[in-house]
Amino acid sequence: MKGIILAGGTASRLFPATTVVSKQLLPIYDKPMIYYPLSTLMLSGIREVLLISTPTHIPLFQELLGDGAHLGMSISYQIQEQPKGLAEAFILGKEFINNDPCALVLGDNIFFGHGFSNILKDMSSVTEGAKIFGYYVSNPQEYGVVEFDKDYNVLSLEEKPQTPKSNYAIPGLYFYDNTVVDRALSLTPSLRGELEITDLNNTYLQDKSLKVSLLGRGFAWLDTGTPDFLLEASSFVRTIQHRQNHYIACIEEIAARNKWITSEQLHKLGSAYKTEYGQYIIELCEEI
Ligand code: DAU
Repeated sequence: MKGIILAGGTASRLFPATTVVSKQLLPIYDKPMIYYPLSTLMLSGIREVLLISTPTHIPLFQELLGDGAHLGMSISYQIQEQPKGLAEAFILGKEFINNDPCALVLGDNIFFGHGFSNILKDMSSVTEGAKIFGYYVSNPQEYGVVEFDKDYNVLSLEEKPQTPKSNYAIPGLYFYDNTVVDRALSLTPSLRGELEITDLNNTYLQDKSLKVSLLGRGFAWLDTGTPDFLLEASSFVRTIQHRQNHYIACIEEIAARNKWITSEQLHKLGSAYKTEYGQYIIELCEEI
């Protein structure tokens, strides 16, 4: 399975310099935001990643992540000139996807919870249809919303409805079979001029090939859309890391645990950082 990270668009609710500084390069506590969605794909076992962003920000991501070889991965890059919608990722990524199943993660979505790796392995095994998540929130009108019947069969999907039919939001992590490119090509822009991910998901729902897994209580799906959410996400990561001394989204650690790099390579990566993050990586080499 291939993976796409969509890390463009604007973060106009965040701060005035948003078009100069990429939101996804801002730190969430001790590492760039982009490490979190990248680690989500890595935990799904995905080694080939396409990062899509603006012409201004692609060179910065390239400087940060390179071609991914140091992580035992392949990372390539694609410009999105205008934020024309999440589903455009599959049109821009057509050649990269090349008839494989493909996952999409939004560059500003952070996930954390016990057993997440196993859930992700299951999600990424999709060869037919689509798999997405549902997550209970207090403000569903700000997201894509999924409605269920009493047996949790999906009844409808709606994008930012004024009157949501449920409290279940759809997080920005989606797993699709190899029909996704053709489906994306068949979409027409919504009233706000975007190719909507919810319209794409609705094509699977109509074909009865959409599965929704609920992420339960105690599972963290963090929003980074406002200054307050950004601070809360940083505090959350700091709290867990201090308490457990297990880092969240340490991409070098995941690469080594996935056996994509050796512990010698891991040591070299850790030594290059003059921070606690680097020290953590060096100490890991003893156990990996
Ligand atoms: O976060 C989950 C939600 O993400 C879903 O529940 C919604 O169904 C989905 O539409 C999306 O809603 P948002 O309002 O959060 O989407 P937003 O336009 O803010 O874009 C999310 C990220 O993707 C953001 O970092 C910018 C980036 N983006 C967005 C668009 C539209 C792109 O890189 N390119 C784009 O064309």
